[in-house]
Amino acid sequence: MPDALDQPDPDWWRQAVVYQIYPRSFADTDGDGVGDIPGAVSKIDYLADLGVDAVWLSPFYPSPMADGGYDVSDYRDVHPQLGTLADFDALVTGAHARGMKVIVDIVPNHTSDEHPWFVEALAAAPGSPARDRYIFRDGLGENGSQPPSDWISHFGGSAWTRVTDAAGRPGQWYCHLFAPQQPDLDWRHPEVRSDFITTLRFWADRGVDGYRVDVAHALAKDLSEPLRSKPDLEDDLPLDGSDPLYDRNEVHEIYQEWRQVFDTYDPPRSAVAEAVSHPARRALYARPTELGQAFNFSLMKAPFGARTFGEVITFCLAEAAKTGSSSTWVLSNHDDIRHVTRYGLPAGTSYEAWLMTEGTDPVPDLARGLRRARAATTLMFALPGSSYVYQGEELGLPEVADLPAEALQDPTWTDSGHTVKGRDGCRVPIPWAPTPPAYGFGPGRPWLPQPATFAALSAAVQAQEPDSTLELYRRALQLRRRLQGAEQLDWVASEPDVLHFVRPGGWHCVTNFGDVPVALPPGQVVLSSTGTTVADELAGESTVWLTSV
Ligand code: BGC
Repeated sequence: MPDALDQPDPDWWRQAVVYQIYPRSFADTDGDGVGDIPGAVSKIDYLADLGVDAVWLSPFYPSPMADGGYDVSDYRDVHPQLGTLADFDALVTGAHARGMKVIVDIVPNHTSDEHPWFVEALAAAPGSPARDRYIFRDGLGENGSQPPSDWISHFGGSAWTRVTDAAGRPGQWYCHLFAPQQPDLDWRHPEVRSDFITTLRFWADRGVDGYRVDVAHALAKDLSEPLRSKPDLEDDLPLDGSDPLYDRNEVHEIYQEWRQVFDTYDPPRSAVAEAVSHPARRALYARPTELGQAFNFSLMKAPFGARTFGEVITFCLAEAAKTGSSSTWVLSNHDDIRHVTRYGLPAGTSYEAWLMTEGTDPVPDLARGLRRARAATTLMFALPGSSYVYQGEELGLPEVADLPAEALQDPTWTDSGHTVKGRDGCRVPIPWAPTPPAYGFGPGRPWLPQPATFAALSAAVQAQEPDSTLELYRRALQLRRRLQGAEQLDWVASEPDVLHFVRPGGWHCVTNFGDVPVALPPGQVVLSSTGTTVADELAGESTVWLTSV
């Protein structure tokens, strides 16, 4: 924990462990079944004890909650259901007092349809300035009844919704790359730009240390007429920034302007881009003149295996080094199937299709999934760069795949016409204690039902078990603090199923991705993903840390 007299470290983020709080599902203090900021405050000692360096809060702003808060109606306040600005200040103060930083989520691509700007735009006539902050267009075809382009929303269906004009007749269409309740902003508009600067400053002035930038790749769009078709290239966007919607070159001007704002603070505020681009263009967002860091989801997408993990790690480190950034590592977050479950399913499973079977076809091997998850996480924590931990992964929570249809709240479910279940299964409220009905989440009925298996996985139970996943995370993070040095990694030659690397100071990390045990390299085992008992061989699907003897 840093000493109060320490100088602010401008590079604190480079090798930080950042814990993602999805506030609605973290801890509920007032009994309405929804997690809140006082709930997060009540868990600050838990987080400090876990050993994380920073917390990232998913949106907690006023919002009609059409997309779990990623539909913001006021960027500079707290949702009344989640607390007040004073509660937020208490969280920042409490985190800082324990040496932890606070990162907030900025959602610049779209607002909520209840944001005053959109309300004003709807009330205004077509072509009026109030509509220019968004992307309104006349429809095509007879009476403008066809959407202005073929753009598709991420949650299903057209990315255009038609509004009703003042006289009650069908009017113009507006663009929304996500849910219809999330109209996209037009970032060519000066007021849009300046208002987000005000928002960045608002939170920085309240002591926030950094930002996670949502959908950072989509702000600049080619809106020249006629609107261009969107090529079907989601997974492999062009290298020249020529896609009409994503990863365009002009987007970087926005972040250059933001960087100037970040650098007016001491230490400069940090930022991490959630950017979907050609992998070779991700580094552009991480330039020191822009956001400084960008998420890479490559490790999360990689099948569990020595070759795939080795390639991803080598590639990501090289990409980060291109701009002098540090790599990010993620195994789970609020948008994807939890990694215990992923690793318990056969490689190549379509998670979307699997979720539609309520998680029954195939049945995941959760014991194996947990073993692999512990091995992968222990490896991740030994990598140079920053690790992002999603709430509940330290408890080894699996995906809750059998949520009843009537409980689902992810807009993906409705917007896909009930063909894609969506992301609620990784957002089920956290079990803090073994006692039903809410397993310590709060006094009321949680907004998503928790399975009975959460009792044994609860934090209170795991705190008593030396070999629990929670204790593994704690031990790993304590040791990491001690062992972490320069951002360097050297590979050590090993068998085909094994990855072995060494960090400066003689910190070795060895993972056996195979099923059968292999010989342990020389050194003193200081941590094993299998638990506290140190074996004389490296078990299948396990990771150890060794120090040189
Ligand atoms: C967030 C999602 C959200 C979407 C739209 C994403 O990248 O992580 O949870 O639905 O942006 O804001």
